[in-house]
Amino acid sequence: MGSGRNVAVFGAYGHTGRFVVAELRERGYVPLLLGRDQDKLQALAQANPGLEARQASVDDPASLDRALVGAAAVINCAGPFASTGAPLVEAALRAGIPYVDVAAEIEANVDTFAHFAERARAAGTVVVPAMAFYGGLGDLLVTTAMGDWTAADEAHIAYGLNSWHPTTGTLASGVVSGQRRGGRRVRYTGGQLEYHDNALPTLEWHFPAPLGAQKVIGEFSMADIVTVPSHLAIPEICTYMTAKAAGDLSAADSAPIAVDERGRSAQTFVVDVLVRSGGTERRASAAGQDIYAISAPLAVEAVDRILTGRTKTTGVASAGAVFDAPDFLRALSPHLSLHVPLDTRG
Ligand SMILES: NC(=O)c1ccc[n+]([C@@H]2O[C@H](COP(=O)([O-])OP(=O)(O)OC[C@H]3O[C@@H](n4cnc5c(N)ncnc54)[C@H](OP(=O)(O)O)[C@@H]3O)[C@@H](O)[C@H]2O)c1
Repeated sequence: MGSGRNVAVFGAYGHTGRFVVAELRERGYVPLLLGRDQDKLQALAQANPGLEARQASVDDPASLDRALVGAAAVINCAGPFASTGAPLVEAALRAGIPYVDVAAEIEANVDTFAHFAERARAAGTVVVPAMAFYGGLGDLLVTTAMGDWTAADEAHIAYGLNSWHPTTGTLASGVVSGQRRGGRRVRYTGGQLEYHDNALPTLEWHFPAPLGAQKVIGEFSMADIVTVPSHLAIPEICTYMTAKAAGDLSAADSAPIAVDERGRSAQTFVVDVLVRSGGTERRASAAGQDIYAISAPLAVEAVDRILTGRTKTTGVASAGAVFDAPDFLRALSPHLSLHVPLDTRG
């Protein structure tokens, strides 16, 4: 348990931030509520008596420094991360504390690796970008499916979402990423990101039962095309999205609606991973409810492991590189139904 240590949550009153605050409390940490809007912070503090709210802005480094005083780690839930990522990593490095974020933006995650790898390593601390549903979970599953392989020819990560009602933050991040790409698409092929204008293919993906065969959009690139190749030698990495969820995202006509006491929506997901080397395939998958809600146990488990010394490296590292991936997934079993290879079940 968290032993009452303070963990700062930037963007605490956002949809994902609220799940993270609740998860930290459940695990015995004391969240520090950080954000740029004093009124929204106060409202959240009133709903969480005893928690401290600290206003801070990414345009004001001193305010970030004050907000991080006494924090053992910071989780950044405020996106678009193109705006918030670098200032928060800088502040975490100044404070000498680990940094974890939930960024789904491909370019923002590339920036975090590119700009902070050396300084984070030199500081002996760890910076974990995309420690969430997109980027983190797929990387943990790919790493687990790989088992003793250190390289593979291909990795495929298929997102079986029954629906996707995006938050304001998701939509804003999509707009920013689209602008950064000049309206182009991106995929990971030949060992690098490639920008292109091709139409995305529609295919059929056979998810584990009960979902079964579903129409998916191929090259629907998510943060996994940054996190996975950051530590695994796989030249071809492709992500897929159920056509239904991709359609919902484009329509963007409603936000998530809570259907249970935890605030989760009725959305269900399966993340199905296949890695191929020569003629051999290995698979792993995880199923659960609500892609925003599941991001909280992912980010908080990461912080807990960092603060209890259960890490494999320092610097900027994705989930699969910094943690024991099968063990991490097992720890999430209250939240995820796992189908992982026999030799990694422990
Ligand atoms: N990788 C994943 O699987 C995953 C999972 C969940 C979320 N995310 C990402 O996390 C981000 C938040 O998502 P959400 O669902 O929580 O959205 P949300 O409910 O709209 O919340 C967005 C939060 O970000 C804050 N924010 C935005 N720009 C800011 C800035 N420049 N400075 C300070 N705070 C800022 C907002 O504060 P104000 O209200 O003051 O604007 C709000 O607290 C998005 O980028 C989303 O893509 C990724």
